[in-house]
Amino acid sequence: MKNILVVGSLGQLGSEISLELRRVFGNDHVVLTDIKDDTNLDLIASGPFYKLDSRDGESLDKIVQKHQIDTIYHLAALLSATAERMPKVAWDINIGGLMTTLEVARQRKCAVFTPSSIGAFGPTTPKIYTPQDTIQRPTSIYGISKVAGELLCDYYYHKYDVDTRGVRFPGVISSMTPPGGGTTDYAVDIYYAAVEQKHYTCFLEGDTYLDMIYMPDAVNAAISIMEADPSRLRHRNAFNIASMSFCPEDQAAYIRNYIPEFTISYDIDPVKQAIADSWPDCLEDYAARVEWGWKPKYDLNMMTKDMIETISRRKQNVVK
Ligand code: SER
Repeated sequence: MKNILVVGSLGQLGSEISLELRRVFGNDHVVLTDIKDDTNLDLIASGPFYKLDSRDGESLDKIVQKHQIDTIYHLAALLSATAERMPKVAWDINIGGLMTTLEVARQRKCAVFTPSSIGAFGPTTPKIYTPQDTIQRPTSIYGISKVAGELLCDYYYHKYDVDTRGVRFPGVISSMTPPGGGTTDYAVDIYYAAVEQKHYTCFLEGDTYLDMIYMPDAVNAAISIMEADPSRLRHRNAFNIASMSFCPEDQAAYIRNYIPEFTISYDIDPVKQAIADSWPDCLEDYAARVEWGWKPKYDLNMMTKDMIETISRRKQNVVK
């Protein structure tokens, strides 16, 4: 039986990956940690949980030994817009935290999943159907930390035989735990605004194309790559994964299929717009499809329907 540890288990990605891991592998076999302990209380209560700063290697090592952990999902990181406001802290958390996990993994022989991002690309990267292996010269501190993270993970694999694997996530859209401080957050916020106010003021320009993914596909990607047959993996850190690419105008048009009176206006955030403009429009994900069978289920229409239904249902329950 596997014993899994999730670092950063209460964030947007962590909360849903942890829930699914506990469903698949059993509550007692999935140990959760996070720097906070005041959200997602049901998730915390459903199995072992420790309050932990991801840079605290000593405590992490004790938890890994106590629970005989063999696989770590390292999900603690600052997102792009927050990172841009405090580059030193972002480096410290995004790289210091990852290094801490890799060192424990090396000593205790654990496999490690680390999310990279579309942010690992920059303005000199081919923008359309961005290849798996291409130029990576990002201009945001978030992107710089993601490229460094990819290289560090490959380094631990080649030098110490640590079984490191990762994917380059598009903007992740979900309704359980909000993202925070990301450039792609608009694509989540827009659904809440559509249901609640029938209007959204978007911080990116209407024709800004970016890759996006719905949470069930993102969870499936993280777990599938860690369960994949290692002999088939030619790449490791990190695989492009694509699911859908759209701009705010496209998303607004799909929302109008369900909320016809919905309107969108724009108040551009120059920092976030510059970050978005430096990222690809859409990735090519052939390597992930061939090497570990990546295949997303949701398109923009299915996701829009599901997000609006979920948020509306929740709103009605609150009103009742
Ligand atoms: N969603 C992230 C962000 O916007 C990108 O991976 O920062």
